[in-house]
Amino acid sequence: MPPLLLISGSQRAESWNARLLDHLTFSLQWQCEVDLLEPKSIGLPLFDQDLETDAAVRKALDGLYPRFANCSGILVACPEYNGQATPLLKNTIDWVSRLAHLDTRFDNPFHNKPMLLCSASTGWSSGALVIQNLRSLFGYLGALVVGPSIGIARAADRWTPDGFEFDDSTELQIEAALSALLQAASHYQPMGEPGSQQV
Ligand SMILES: Cc1cc2nc3c(=O)[nH]c(=O)nc-3n(C[C@H](O)[C@H](O)[C@H](O)COP(=O)(O)O)c2cc1C
Repeated sequence: MPPLLLISGSQRAESWNARLLDHLTFSLQWQCEVDLLEPKSIGLPLFDQDLETDAAVRKALDGLYPRFANCSGILVACPEYNGQATPLLKNTIDWVSRLAHLDTRFDNPFHNKPMLLCSASTGWSSGALVIQNLRSLFGYLGALVVGPSIGIARAADRWTPDGFEFDDSTELQIEAALSALLQAASHYQPMGEPGSQQV
């Protein structure tokens, strides 16, 4: 089963995007190994090039990097903040992307990495702008963002005591998107330990 890394762009306790990841995990758990990146465990400061050699930052990055490098695919669920990705997600990606520039033992963990982009919003827009924004960000980093995405509008209206309940067309959209990610991930060879593979 391909290992997948799941990342929420929100660390809010009752985040709709974290709840969306839980909903997707229920389907994914039979088809892949799920590694959920807990936002509050990331432990990275606001990006600052002066901190690139800071021992505490390098320790946090050394712990984080293998989770990006050793997975066969990444699934991101990120809120739309003024049409953009959240500072939390952008900050994490900026830090992880810097390692290959700082230390030749590290490669770009996003190179050819299959990715699925998702967004849950309380508004009507279903996060269309942040999906576009993330396509640009991860495309720049060399990831292979799969064609379908998952956009959930008015997330609060779809929440029930038993979790999210979506209409048939949304469930079909979810199924197609997960299937595209799993298919791409099944063909991806993870990088392994730092320095073991040239990009
Ligand atoms: C700073 C800020 C900016 C926002 N901008 C947008 C936006 O551009 N589009 C949108 O659909 N919702 C926007 N929202 C509403 C979010 O979709 C909503 O707060 C959502 O619940 C955040 O995701 P979370 O529940 O996973 O934390 C914004 C919320 C905040 C706090």
